[in-house]
Amino acid sequence: MRYGHFDDERREYVITRPDTPLPWINYLGSEAYFGIISNTAGGYSFYRDARLRRLTRYRYNNTPFDLGGRYLYLRDSASGDFWSPSWQPTQSELEDYECRHGMGYSAIASRLGGIEAETLYFVPVEENLEIWRTRVTNKRDSEAKLSLFSAIEFCLWDAWEDQTNFQRNFSTGQVEVEDGVIYHKTEYRERRDHFAYFACSEPLAGFDTQRDTFLGAYHGWDSPAAVERGKSFDSIAHGWAPCGSHHVELTLAPGETKEVVFVLGYSENPVDAKFDPPGSQTINKKTVKPLIERYLRSDEVESAFQQLRDYWSELLGILQVSTPDEHTNRMVNIWNAYQCMVTFNMSRSASFFESGIGRGMGFRDSAQDLLGFVHMVPERARERILDIAATQFPSGGAYHQYQPLTKRGNDAVGSGFNDDPAWLILGVAAYLKETGDISILDEEATYDNEPGSESPLYEHLQRSLRYTLHRLGPHGLPLIGRADWNDCLNLNCFSTTPGESFQTTENKEGGVAESVFIGGLFVLAAEELAQIAERRGHTDEAETYRADGAKMDATVREHGWDGDWFRRAYDYFGAVIGSKENEEGQIFIEPQGICVLAGIGVDDGKAEKALDSVASKLACEHGIVLQQPAYSHYYVNLGEISSYPPGYKENAGIFCHTNPWIMIGEAIIGRGDEAFDYYRRINPSAREDISELHRCEPYVYPQMIAGKDAPTFGEAKNSWLSGTAAWNFVAISQWLLGLRAEHDGLRVDPCLPKEWESYEATRKFRGATYRISVSKPKGVCKGVTQVSVDGKKIEGNLIAPQPAGAEVVVEVTMG
Ligand code: BGC
Ligand code: NOJ
Repeated sequence: MRYGHFDDERREYVITRPDTPLPWINYLGSEAYFGIISNTAGGYSFYRDARLRRLTRYRYNNTPFDLGGRYLYLRDSASGDFWSPSWQPTQSELEDYECRHGMGYSAIASRLGGIEAETLYFVPVEENLEIWRTRVTNKRDSEAKLSLFSAIEFCLWDAWEDQTNFQRNFSTGQVEVEDGVIYHKTEYRERRDHFAYFACSEPLAGFDTQRDTFLGAYHGWDSPAAVERGKSFDSIAHGWAPCGSHHVELTLAPGETKEVVFVLGYSENPVDAKFDPPGSQTINKKTVKPLIERYLRSDEVESAFQQLRDYWSELLGILQVSTPDEHTNRMVNIWNAYQCMVTFNMSRSASFFESGIGRGMGFRDSAQDLLGFVHMVPERARERILDIAATQFPSGGAYHQYQPLTKRGNDAVGSGFNDDPAWLILGVAAYLKETGDISILDEEATYDNEPGSESPLYEHLQRSLRYTLHRLGPHGLPLIGRADWNDCLNLNCFSTTPGESFQTTENKEGGVAESVFIGGLFVLAAEELAQIAERRGHTDEAETYRADGAKMDATVREHGWDGDWFRRAYDYFGAVIGSKENEEGQIFIEPQGICVLAGIGVDDGKAEKALDSVASKLACEHGIVLQQPAYSHYYVNLGEISSYPPGYKENAGIFCHTNPWIMIGEAIIGRGDEAFDYYRRINPSAREDISELHRCEPYVYPQMIAGKDAPTFGEAKNSWLSGTAAWNFVAISQWLLGLRAEHDGLRVDPCLPKEWESYEATRKFRGATYRISVSKPKGVCKGVTQVSVDGKKIEGNLIAPQPAGAEVVVEVTMG
């Protein structure tokens, strides 16, 4: 069953009924001001940091779902009937409801009793504000007298404090209302130099800023007292819960449309110019007023919206493909790329599943996300790399997370996730291959943000590699520390205290527990660093890294091979995990993926054998599960992985982030049908028809789909913010379609299903445009036999970078 459809032409997903199985959300904003918005206008906004600069309130895990949002109410003055044109919060019976989620905007339209309303929500590029443009049309044959109310609830900035510290919060709230603009200025009187504003393009019949007055005691958002009676109270919030609501009266002739624009924004003043007049307690509005005036104007709204559309056309235009498979086209051209940008902006902070207060920016997550967006925003990737590197410890180790506002490492989560440093090498390698900008290697970055500790980025990468080499266990495999990619495989934790964090507790500093996964990752990273060293003319260093990699490769084959697949780890006691010897957790997906990706066992049949084992033991109709058999009970020596009921999350869920590693592995050994089959199983668009089972949005990847051991097999959770976005993008674009940026050019090396005859792509790369057509007349999966550039045959399948501005035609024949 579907709840809408794709409109690929407009790059939108169109939801046609409001009661989706879960709120289906979208993101607003592209630089610093962001919001999430659901298909019924639920969600919230923040500036840079979803915890520390939250503008509006949202009630997570509420009933009904998804309360707190960008709400509007229409009230018919004649009958007194009122409704929300976005369905929530009134849940009135709407006609022709439609929500169009697009690239950085959402538009929600509906009709009730002959009154149509359509609201477009977006954040103009480079502005710290959001626009709601509402158009109300009277489709009746008589005049309509209507009231339009807006409604938001302000968050008192720190979203965690806001939800917990009521003894203080109920006394601090402050607002100003001037010329119909509502200003939220809680704590502005003291140490904050920022405030929020909420403006309306029309003259007001009234306003409210005190939530409990607007709603009325014991009323919910579905029946605000002001809306019920058809008149605002003009309330001013002193403490309690500040809100923002405008009341506009509209009289519409038959057929007439009226446009009303609302602007909600964030602004900062210099500390010495906070008040106007100086010495008063009144916000200085000098810089913000012209901005408000500008964006309340219809023509400015239109051109800002156009600019947003152009912004996305440009980003998405960097790679466009046309293949025989619509799900591939749609995800590569639109939604997967878009999701990669969202993970760049949000990391793991704010979604329907991430509360915005829980997690900072992950070191590993941010480094991996880079792989998915570096081709779209290389300059910002550069900045991100340097930010991440500056949090690294002198040992090469890493804080597991850092805070986006301060860019400092986050003590609360700590360090010791021993895979973290290696991902930095992979992220930097991806940046270098995309841009050729080796100057980044000379950029100085601090350690642990300590001024004076700077060294060139290149040295950070060297230290990353050394970090692993200096932490090898009894078998010569890397020590796992707190955990590796699998945050929940906690082999040194031994937690028996309820609620204790598995991620931060380490009871036993063992020096024994080893990770085969990090072994594979190290082999991959060592080769990347060797290539980087060569670029800098350090052939001796390159040789050393290759030798280190080869040694680890041999160790993995010796101690990490179980006969039919790669083992997972050795535990605190030195016992094997992910082996036939185990009763549960005999085979894990991660080492099969990463080892083959690193090239381990490709030459001696181990890779193929490992992937065959994945196919027979882990693959199922909804994707590939993380391990088998699932852990049926809690194992104190394994940690969080066994805390989940079987089939969920890291305990044998289909952890989508890992599936692309297997797709890539299959592509490396040339099995195109298998690679695509896996690609299709978790492709959200290909799952649209089973939306009632899948439940999450059909336009973006979830982190997890419940595995075969779960009672809800096939049900997705944690949509949007997952490394799944970047890795699926890498798998499909670089390994299956085979368009891969390398240091010396663009490699074309597809691995496709047998039945495909051709596909086409446009790729912009280092300033030139490549119009590529791949033909495959002989039904093979892999193997390029001929490449020509502008009609001239080249040697091999690596196209040297073309001059900036050039547009070349590339013809590729496989066979
Ligand atoms: C989740 C992991 C996640 C970790 C982050 C765990 O509860 O299962 O997926 O990586 O938290 O700290
Ligand atoms: C989600 C985390 O964000 C990611 O860093 C981790 O690798 C996976 N969970 C697996 O535990």
